[in-house]
Amino acid sequence: MNAPAGDQLRAALSAEEIAELNELGIPVTFQPGAVIFKEGERSNHAVLIKRGHVKVVSATHADQELVLAMRGPNEVVGEMAPLDGRPRSATVVAATPVEAAIVSAEDFNTFLDAHPRVLRFLLTQIMQRLREADHG
Ligand code: CMP
Repeated sequence: MNAPAGDQLRAALSAEEIAELNELGIPVTFQPGAVIFKEGERSNHAVLIKRGHVKVVSATHADQELVLAMRGPNEVVGEMAPLDGRPRSATVVAATPVEAAIVSAEDFNTFLDAHPRVLRFLLTQIMQRLREADHG
């Protein structure tokens, strides 16, 4: 029998999925404090974090930095713009030295077409944010 849908969907990317996504990407490093995405900018690649941590911050609270989330190894950040073609929804800054892979929107979307489980996993992450936002 299959695992409950929720459990499967919440599972992070598998080693194979990470390796495949990494193959599609261009390796890049960021120093602590480097801006990886700026809220409102028009860029549409996704970033796979291999080492280190990034923080997602809201630029609308620029006077007092509001950290929305942290992302770390084997997690994807910047998945929204390649999916919906809209400007970046938040600013993402390297919190430590970061090693990552930059995956073009085209390759990222082709990858997601071939890996619907990953697409559903990303969808559940976004849904979780919506649920949290609904309850302040
Ligand atoms: P994107 O909008 O492409 O670029 C900024 C990224 O920050 C976004 O994709 C998500 O990956 C991430 N992000 C935006 N808002 C949040 C949030 N509330 N929690 C976690 N990550 C977020």
